[in-house]
Amino acid sequence: MEKATQEQGFSQQHPGSTIHLEVKNLAVSIVSGDAPLGRLYEEIKQRTTQYIKGKNHGTATQEAEVSWTAEGVIGRGHNILKNVSMATKPGQVCLIMGSSGSGKTTLLNTLAGRMDPHGTAISDSIRMNGDQPQKYWASRQVGYIQQEEHLLPHLTVKETLSYSADFCLSPNASKAEKEDIVTSLLTDFGLQSCANVIIGETDAPDLVQTNRRGISGGERKRLSTATQLLFKPKLLFCDEVTSGLDAHSALELVKILKTYAEATSSTVVISIHQPRSEIYHLLSRSEGQLVVLSKGDVVYSGQLSEALPWFGNLGFNSYSEHMNPLDYMLHLSTVDYSSPDTEKSTRERCEMLIASWKE
Ligand SMILES: Nc1ncnc2c1ncn2[C@@H]1O[C@H](COP(=O)(O)OP(=O)(O)OP(=O)(O)O)[C@@H](O)[C@H]1O
Ligand SMILES: [Mg+2]
Repeated sequence: MEKATQEQGFSQQHPGSTIHLEVKNLAVSIVSGDAPLGRLYEEIKQRTTQYIKGKNHGTATQEAEVSWTAEGVIGRGHNILKNVSMATKPGQVCLIMGSSGSGKTTLLNTLAGRMDPHGTAISDSIRMNGDQPQKYWASRQVGYIQQEEHLLPHLTVKETLSYSADFCLSPNASKAEKEDIVTSLLTDFGLQSCANVIIGETDAPDLVQTNRRGISGGERKRLSTATQLLFKPKLLFCDEVTSGLDAHSALELVKILKTYAEATSSTVVISIHQPRSEIYHLLSRSEGQLVVLSKGDVVYSGQLSEALPWFGNLGFNSYSEHMNPLDYMLHLSTVDYSSPDTEKSTRERCEMLIASWKE
């Protein structure tokens, strides 16, 4: 579908408020078995109160953030994210990048309010429109597409979208309006050719026996994304939404999400593996944002277009026009375990990048 028509469709279907996301010094820690969260929480609260009383300046929230990390309470568990700061504005796409295990899914889960409250300690540093995020999490304004998506295997693609439309759209919407929206999503996401194919699943025995495998992995990703857009999220988190897609389909999906963000003044945050350079060029021309994680620490967070100059100023100038800029930055922030020597040198490089970002 033409981009202008797509934009028009999205903006008609998605009016409403916007969400400014701001994160300051976010720390996430898995609480170990011998330190139950209840006890740890009481200790955090007590120390925070003492700290605020002792200092007696600043707002309670600011001081609480400082004391959580300064007192090392967070450090008692297994630290998965340390000191993550980022900000997004409505209309933007933000990429979260980092090697496997760097904390991308944990960051998205934390920002979307999906962490297990009994097993994790999270510093109180997420704000949406300047407020605590809980009220946004409780509303449908925050959407999430998981790394492993869950769809009903016996439904067809069109049935999945139609049932979701019945569930998500206003009860006042007519049958024809719902059908229009489903048809335009099938077109936008390139799903017309498989509209009547069942989703299928490798572990649904009746489907395997009858050899009804269903749609491909890439089609599943596109369908999950289309289904989420029906909820009209103002803040949409997508975990590895392009993984498993060929390069062209990955780019097309990011283009749709960018159009959605711009047309509806929403924000789309995407964690991404092996991003191709076209995605970089597409987003750096607009106001795309980038967060690069290295083992739970931030090595860059800000405008995508300013990332390469940042690494260049730190002395990493071996980037050339023939390279993929995102691959280059990912390479710089990854520890290479292939030999003791490379591990030592790349670890030192990552530590230097983390320290430089903190300054
Ligand atoms: N509940 C948990 N308990 C213990 N460790 C955890 C838990 N959740 C995540 N981790 C660890 O935190 C680190 C970050 O995990 P996360 O899934 O966020 O990484 P990721 O960047 O999304 O990786 P991938 O690219 O492979 O999906 C990993 O080392 C993981 O093992
Ligand atoms: Mg992940």
